[in-house]
Amino acid sequence: MALDAEYLSSLVNWKEGLISPEIFIDPEIYRLEQERIFGRSWLFLAHDSMIPKPNDFFATYMGGDPVLVVRQPDGGVEAFLNVCRHRGMKVCRAESGNTRTFMCTYHGWTYDTAGGLVGVPNLDDAYYNELSLKDNGLVKVAQIDSYKGLIFGNFDPSAPPLADYLGDLKYYIDGWVDHTENGIEVLPGVVKWTINANWKLAAEQFVGDTYHAPTSHASSLLMFGPAFAGKDGGHVAMREGHGESFLFERLTRFEDDPLGRYNETRSRAARERVGDRAEFVANFTAFPAFSGLPGSANIRVWHPKGPNKFEIWSFTVVDKDAPEAARRAQQVSASFTEGPAGVVETDDGENWGLIGHILEHGHQARKMAWNYEMGRGHTREHEEFPGEYGDSFFGEDGQRAFYRRWLEFMISKTWPTIPEEPGKPGGAELPEGSPSRAGGVR
Ligand code: FES
Ligand code: FE
Repeated sequence: MALDAEYLSSLVNWKEGLISPEIFIDPEIYRLEQERIFGRSWLFLAHDSMIPKPNDFFATYMGGDPVLVVRQPDGGVEAFLNVCRHRGMKVCRAESGNTRTFMCTYHGWTYDTAGGLVGVPNLDDAYYNELSLKDNGLVKVAQIDSYKGLIFGNFDPSAPPLADYLGDLKYYIDGWVDHTENGIEVLPGVVKWTINANWKLAAEQFVGDTYHAPTSHASSLLMFGPAFAGKDGGHVAMREGHGESFLFERLTRFEDDPLGRYNETRSRAARERVGDRAEFVANFTAFPAFSGLPGSANIRVWHPKGPNKFEIWSFTVVDKDAPEAARRAQQVSASFTEGPAGVVETDDGENWGLIGHILEHGHQARKMAWNYEMGRGHTREHEEFPGEYGDSFFGEDGQRAFYRRWLEFMISKTWPTIPEEPGKPGGAELPEGSPSRAGGVR
């Protein structure tokens, strides 16, 4: 099946909220995502606090491509493909650290922290000094930019600035990172684990699927005081493909420990600084694969590892000003709830993995459109919260906006500027044969 605009649009009926599961399992679609989504989106790389000193580096991925994020002597940040120009081996196999050079362990080509090739074994007797060092530096990520300490990269030189790309999401990021005067920092140690499912299942859940929590997390929520049911909340869908949910009441847990006490004090101060945003953001996704649970002081990246496999990289975040006891308690809390053995997170992995299993092995199940119609037509403008606002804590407006944007990226050969005209995904109308309410995917 040619992956043209007509076929891709036939899989994603974001208007009605019907999505073909083919987009979560088809290897060809996965390949095209690497080019059109991960090759052109602003992707989270690291937080400033993870690479504070010159020559500090952090090894990560942009889509399937390994990259090195390196603090430069002038304080700036560069990112390079972590791929040797000789035969494509990784030039750095450590996860993070501080170094003056990266030496490829295959044949020993060596690069400095600005990506320049500075050492080649047998340059004189084997290459006769004819190899251009200048032309064989590491491949640079085209654009690097940061927002409030969050560093992003983009492979596409024609992509708009990060601030434009984040759009309305900036307002909500501010409400979280500006809790205190000195902002946030990421604690050492990234927790990484693998789920056998498509990365979008996780990304779309963090866009706004709070609906799963009372059922999936019923047992773990018993530990956290009040359950969600009947609680006041809302959600926001953003045209840029981002989304998030709020709960207008803090779920209390560990009230009497140093973290609980710190959160109480901080909450009051934070509300004075940034208003209601300080408390309310439950979860968010910045399109495509950067998500967070500000209430749980956790951010994460969903790294695709194949059509039916992704890695979760989970970072614990604290206020820079937090006292030591609160920081330690935050780390314990994060391991207790999030992470591969966390009492909350294991529930999600179970769901995603079983869905991935069905899609990998089933045939009929792949022909059935999934239902994303919750809350359709019920968003409004809100004087305090930018974006398309939904009054219920539960809604799928964010997910529909996410897949609308996904489709625009996938079908557009140039960088997919959001069209002026409302209601049209990249200018394309949905063709005949789109997922329909009557017959699933035809
Ligand atoms: Fe890196 Fe040969 S692959 S030196
Ligand atoms: Fe969950």
